[in-house]
Amino acid sequence: MPELVVVTGAFSYTGSFIARRLLDDGVRVRTLTRRDDPASPLHGKIETAPLQFADRAALVESLRGARCLYNTYWVRFERGGTTFDRAVRNSAFLFAAAAEAGVERIVHVSVSSPSDDSPLPYFRGKAQVERELAAAGPAYAIVRPTLVFGPRDILVNNIAWILRRFPVFVVPGDGSGRVQPVSAEDVAEIAVTATRTVDAAGPEEYSFAELVRLVGAAIGCRRPLVHAPPRLALAVGAIAGVARRDVLLTRDELAGLQASLLVSHEPPRGRASFREWLERNGATLGRAYVSELARNFRPYAPL
Ligand SMILES: NC(=O)c1ccc[n+]([C@@H]2O[C@H](COP(=O)([O-])OP(=O)(O)OC[C@H]3O[C@@H](n4cnc5c(N)ncnc54)[C@H](OP(=O)(O)O)[C@@H]3O)[C@@H](O)[C@H]2O)c1
Repeated sequence: MPELVVVTGAFSYTGSFIARRLLDDGVRVRTLTRRDDPASPLHGKIETAPLQFADRAALVESLRGARCLYNTYWVRFERGGTTFDRAVRNSAFLFAAAAEAGVERIVHVSVSSPSDDSPLPYFRGKAQVERELAAAGPAYAIVRPTLVFGPRDILVNNIAWILRRFPVFVVPGDGSGRVQPVSAEDVAEIAVTATRTVDAAGPEEYSFAELVRLVGAAIGCRRPLVHAPPRLALAVGAIAGVARRDVLLTRDELAGLQASLLVSHEPPRGRASFREWLERNGATLGRAYVSELARNFRPYAPL
């Protein structure tokens, strides 16, 4: 019997790339998730168990026998009862369950630039989770991605979607905040080979405005960039969000972009070129909108 590894969120985004990479290694993969997804290409190839935080004994059982846990669980923003504080508590609960189940190692997906001192709850919460992991007991590695791109990612895809539909693109502020995109495949590769705390960043770095221009060129929609005060840009984004029944960009995410938190100060481990990926995928990028609320916040049929 091949050895078992557990991955959270293998029917969702980053977790699906990690699960695919692990399957290529010939291991047995079990995902912890809130819902089944018969449409996922991984459906039928991996085992499933509920990712839930109400029944510790059941969570421990779902982790028993696994050598390693790959954790991608986190929430993009707060909404209703979903809060960063709760996500921190849930993460600690998951790590404790893994320790009790005898999981030897946890590979945790964090974010670039986490900080206890950050004014941004996303980045502060990520730092708290990293501390919880260090105290949990099992050996661990931490992978800190910058901005993850790939098929059906949310940010790059939806920038393309906006460029396809509107005559101008509203850039918050001067658009000089820097990003260092990393491919989802590279994040998965870095996760399965990580032995300590490492950034997962790609080989290229752009300002946000440059990134939007690159996306526009790749999809054949070079729109004028209109620089607007961040508040006004957020208001425009909020209107578009209402129209799409989604949240396009939060104030905190914008602050993170402007503060260049999605870059690494380590030599890049990711190899895929964002520019080349755009050139290869421009024809399809942004044809369909990808909704965060639909993916992660709408009611679902639990496992
Ligand atoms: N995407 C990026 O550009 C990026 C950049 C830097 C760091 N990261 C980090 O990478 C990890 C994965 O991110 P991702 O974008 O790939 O996320 P994702 O796949 O959409 O979600 C990851 C996991 O979190 C769970 N989850 C997400 N939103 C939730 C909610 N509202 N309530 C309860 N559970 C929720 C999902 O549960 P289900 O399996 O049940 O759906 C899944 O297990 C996260 O830790 C994130 O902070 C991502």
